[in-house]
Amino acid sequence: MSTLSQVALPKIAQVRMTRLENRTAKIGVIGLGYVGLPLSLLLSEAGFKVTGFDIDTKKVTDLEAGRSYIFRIPAEEIQSARAQGFKATADFAGLSDQDAIIMCVPTPLTEHREPDLSYVENTAKAAAPWLQEGQLVVLESTTYPGTTEDLMIPILEAENRNGLKVQSKGTAAEQGVFYVAFSPEREDPGNTTVARRDIPKVVGGHEEIATELAAVMYEGIFTRSVRVSSTRAAEMTKLLENIYRCVNIALVNELKVLALKMGMDIWEVIDAAATKPFGFHPFYPGPGLGGHCIPIDPFYLSWKAKEYDFNTRFIELAGEVNEAMPAHVVQYVAKGLNQNKKAVNGARILMLGMAYKKDIDDLRESPSLTVIELLREQGAEVQYNDPYFPTVGRGRHYNLNMTCTPLDDLGQYDCVLIMTDHTDYDYKDIVSKSRLVVDSRNATKGIKSEKIVRC
Ligand SMILES: NC(=O)c1ccc[n+]([C@@H]2O[C@H](COP(=O)([O-])OP(=O)(O)OC[C@H]3O[C@@H](n4cnc5c(N)ncnc54)[C@H](O)[C@@H]3O)[C@@H](O)[C@H]2O)c1
Repeated sequence: MSTLSQVALPKIAQVRMTRLENRTAKIGVIGLGYVGLPLSLLLSEAGFKVTGFDIDTKKVTDLEAGRSYIFRIPAEEIQSARAQGFKATADFAGLSDQDAIIMCVPTPLTEHREPDLSYVENTAKAAAPWLQEGQLVVLESTTYPGTTEDLMIPILEAENRNGLKVQSKGTAAEQGVFYVAFSPEREDPGNTTVARRDIPKVVGGHEEIATELAAVMYEGIFTRSVRVSSTRAAEMTKLLENIYRCVNIALVNELKVLALKMGMDIWEVIDAAATKPFGFHPFYPGPGLGGHCIPIDPFYLSWKAKEYDFNTRFIELAGEVNEAMPAHVVQYVAKGLNQNKKAVNGARILMLGMAYKKDIDDLRESPSLTVIELLREQGAEVQYNDPYFPTVGRGRHYNLNMTCTPLDDLGQYDCVLIMTDHTDYDYKDIVSKSRLVVDSRNATKGIKSEKIVRC
């Protein structure tokens, strides 16, 4: 791969490069959600002058008042970023002032499980009029290979006011160009074992100068950046990582269902296999996939593959296995109730954990939402407890209007169902006070009780 010393920079890029190197650059981050806000704070902490742009005026108001809306980000971090000059705004005019613009907007699936790129499209349209010569634009949203080049660049070129074109490979433009790169976000929310700055940042530019500008910018906040040859390679890298995870989770989910039938403990087997010092990486089964990434991203690639008459069989099969897990959990709730001579219909069930994984305040695509729906369809009366969610209202695929139930008087429920293994729960205490505990996460590992049904 190229390095900075090998790339001869035209003057308009050198100006931005110098600012990125000495961290005097102004950086605009569009989309201040789970990805964009922490990124803004990291950049600000490193000394860059950061402005966050979001169409959600409530977020802008909160940040301007020094308040956080993400559980794991304390308000003090926002306040100290503000003291460094961090600002938030819904007015995109300020983009023209930035040396680099980073886009971190959602990339969900539509109702028909196809890529919904409307957020990327709208953001590109909103940013284009403010584009300036020599600016670097980086897309971070997870997407299929080709989005940056086939969707984002054409909008930026067509809708900017200065007649600017993207700097392309092999052309020696000295003026009238902007630079474009793709760099995927690789954060693992709730994972405290790896510091965010130690996750290498993959960067692929539309051409070499963009790669270098983006790599140098990210080296200001990450221990290292990994340069790849194109935006497509960077886009595909992120999908490979998440598909690898999705497929391996499906594998252990399938083996868990088999192990249950065979009367075996799959978690014990995985822990034993994980002692092998090579060739095995442990993945753990659960009640189904959740979050904005693993249940969604693989389908960006399978959709794109159709254009090439290619059927991504691993992705489809993994999706099928993982999507069956909430129903598997419900089946084990019925089994547990049956042991106590109860039916699902009319049963009082307390679900522990709404978040899609432990110790985070993210509900997107959470299997808990599906399980509530399935249990209610069978006539169960479901309540929930989750320290991260005082209430659960409505979202893209749910409309619940529920309030968190306190963890007292557990004996009143026919079943306590563990959906998320939050660290704060005292599982021994929960088991001792409940009549039946159905555990979809192995959270009760080591606790011996006939009241526990593991699934
Ligand atoms: N959350 C994660 O852990 C994670 C990890 C890796 C990658 N990603 C990817 O990063 C991207 C962003 O995810 P997220 O979790 O931060 O999403 P999010 O929903 O938390 O945040 C997105 C933000 O973008 C804003 N937005 C939407 N349209 C906009 C527009 N036109 N202009 C300005 N702002 C706009 C929204 O108001 C919101 O604040 C997605 O592609 C996701 O797949 C997320």
